Amino acid sequence: MIKKGGTYVVMGLLNTDSIAYATGKMIEELGGRVIYTAQNDRMKKIFFDRGCPDLAQAEKDAMCIKYCDVTVENEVRNLFRDLGEVDGVVHSIAYANPKTCLGHHIYTNSFDDIKQGFGISCASLATVSQFAQEHMPKGGSIVTLSFSSQVAFPYYNWMGVNKAALEALVRALAREYGREHVRVNAVSAGPLTTKAAKSIPHFAALTQTWKKISPLPWDPIKDKQEVAHAVVFLLGDYSRKITGQTLYVDGGASVVGGELLKHEKPIKSMPAKKRLIQKAAAELEKPIT
Ligand SMILES: NC(=O)c1ccc[n+]([C@@H]2O[C@H](COP(=O)([O-])OP(=O)(O)OC[C@H]3O[C@@H](n4cnc5c(N)ncnc54)[C@H](O)[C@@H]3O)[C@@H](O)[C@H]2O)c1
Repeated sequence: MIKKGGTYVVMGLLNTDSIAYATGKMIEELGGRVIYTAQNDRMKKIFFDRGCPDLAQAEKDAMCIKYCDVTVENEVRNLFRDLGEVDGVVHSIAYANPKTCLGHHIYTNSFDDIKQGFGISCASLATVSQFAQEHMPKGGSIVTLSFSSQVAFPYYNWMGVNKAALEALVRALAREYGREHVRVNAVSAGPLTTKAAKSIPHFAALTQTWKKISPLPWDPIKDKQEVAHAVVFLLGDYSRKITGQTLYVDGGASVVGGELLKHEKPIKSMPAKKRLIQKAAAELEKPIT
């Protein structure tokens, strides 16, 4: 469980749709102290201050938000230096230019964009881990967010490559920092409606695909909470011998081959299931003729 009064740094807050927001709120509910990070003041003003009309001013004021652009090593170093002791970190950050790194083809016309995407979405986890672990004298846990990298989804192109690299980096960092009692894991989430997701071309089609391949029902809005649950599990003590892993929270979509057949699709509501069971029971009670 989350350590009551423990300090958790949740990086990648953009607005109330962000996985970072759902995760941070859950940590707070469980008694942890959360330091959120936003990329910079400009992004916070555009998306958080002005873009979250549903959020009460009192809640906004109560949130501790620091700035950290993960591509600037000094900003990451200073963030952790100023925080003192830390128990856990959530790295919920990704970016790739949608015009050159996502889309119809695996474009090769901007190597700078490919490098930028890799730097932000993958390599930054190493920078964050390096400076975070220095502030975890009793050990700690670092969790990043991935997306199905074992199969190729349309349009995801270089970001899919970044996620595969991120999961490899999770294993390498688990090996590096195990001696410091610091664990590093990833949660691989199914599609969730957030700003980053909306920049993936045809993201709506991806959520439709999930309806066809996920054995469990998958809700791209509500299931952010389920993803947050898994992040919290990996941050806390119940997972203390788990490191270097990618935990899939995707309704099971990653383990099926091909689309679900009609009879395999999730039952929409449990009352419907109850009716099916009652019907079967009634059939059994019928006298054999
Ligand atoms: N939404 C999904 O469907 C989904 C599914 C699986 C995994 N993920 C992953 O979850 C993570 C969080 O994304 P999200 O969906 O909550 O979207 P989001 O847009 O709310 O969050 C992405 C965050 O990355 C930040 N960021 C980008 N460049 C940065 C930089 N240089 N320095 C610091 N921060 C930077 C953005 O400011 C933003 O806060 C990402 O790694 C994403 O790939 C998302």
